[in-house]
Amino acid sequence: MPVDLSINYPAASRLINRRQLIGLTGELLRKCRVAEYTVSLHLVNDEEIRSLNRTYRQKDSATNVLSFPFGEGADSSLASLPVKELGDIVISLDTARRESVEYCQTFQHRLNWLIIHGLLHLLGYDHERSRKDEKIMQAMELDLLAFLKIYRRTPMPHLAINVDHVATIRQARGTIEPDPVTAAALCELAGASGIVVHLREDRRHIQDRDVLLLRQTIKTRLNLEMGANREIIQFALDLQPDMVTLVPEKREELTTEGGLDIVGQKKKIGQTVKKMRSASIPVSIFIDPDFEQIHAAGDIGATFIEIHTGKYCDAASDTARNQEYQLIAAAAEEANRIGLRVNAGHGLNYQNTAPIAALATIDELSIGHAIISRAVFTGIDQAVREMLEIIRNAQF
Ligand code: PXP
Repeated sequence: MPVDLSINYPAASRLINRRQLIGLTGELLRKCRVAEYTVSLHLVNDEEIRSLNRTYRQKDSATNVLSFPFGEGADSSLASLPVKELGDIVISLDTARRESVEYCQTFQHRLNWLIIHGLLHLLGYDHERSRKDEKIMQAMELDLLAFLKIYRRTPMPHLAINVDHVATIRQARGTIEPDPVTAAALCELAGASGIVVHLREDRRHIQDRDVLLLRQTIKTRLNLEMGANREIIQFALDLQPDMVTLVPEKREELTTEGGLDIVGQKKKIGQTVKKMRSASIPVSIFIDPDFEQIHAAGDIGATFIEIHTGKYCDAASDTARNQEYQLIAAAAEEANRIGLRVNAGHGLNYQNTAPIAALATIDELSIGHAIISRAVFTGIDQAVREMLEIIRNAQF
């Protein structure tokens, strides 16, 4: 194996996506034309990197990354190495985390940069040698970052809250309360980055009046979930939401049951995307984590996909959940690779959101039922803040 990964930091190890890190480092080795060499990547804490820095560089302080070329001091050319071993890269996860906050990057983004920086040192680049060397190394770093197609730039995914269920309670009595418009304002005050409503053909919960008022009052972003039917398409074109999410819609279902089958109705969905795009409304399409559907979404010009997390959330065993999780992680990577942005949602709650929020490929989480359910007992402000805390902490 060209990449030997050790994580000497128990508290962090479950939050590190080993497969992704090993894959990414392997890609970097190929890109740098040293694919036949092995590199050892050690993820440690500040204390350990400080000790190494003290022993080998006589600097008694923690640092972000240290590189130890194999056979350093003997002969500097790769060809002369007795084994095909580049050397060791040691990264402090504590410093990486602090720097990710300082530079307003995702933790994953910072880690990727540190791996690139460490690898370039192993390959003989040295920004400390001269100003010219510094420039050369920086240019290489930018090249490699671009090659990796670094994903989301924000430190954590946005939380968009679906307030349909507030309307469901109201409609149960056919009165004027509770009002989803008030709920949306409270969600925003608690830190939500967006509001989602599904205007269903049968108007079982959200009403036209709600959406029209939301358009005028919300300060963040209004995401209108909708089926691709003529009446609602016209409604969306008139409303000008910040984005629309196309979902399948069946009258008899309790909630949206599965992802949209773009492959089976490419022409119809493609025309809807085109109409929205010509009105400058970005389109997201709610799909299962399926590569064929992802490519079809890319083909018809969607800006986002929203990955259906329902199977992951409903999985009956840890093994099944892990399988669904791997599917979601791979699907989100593939979507990013072909230039789509990725949201995720359906069934996410206070127990199962953290691993999804930890994926650096996900821009936004769309969550409704769990937050509104908790709000019944705790109030909506606390329910939103508790979910935001989970998302924030998932970023290692
Ligand atoms: N995303 C989509 C496309 C949905 O249809 C729904 C449910 O309305 C959600 C996210 C939110 O799901 P939940 O209410 O289970 O959090």
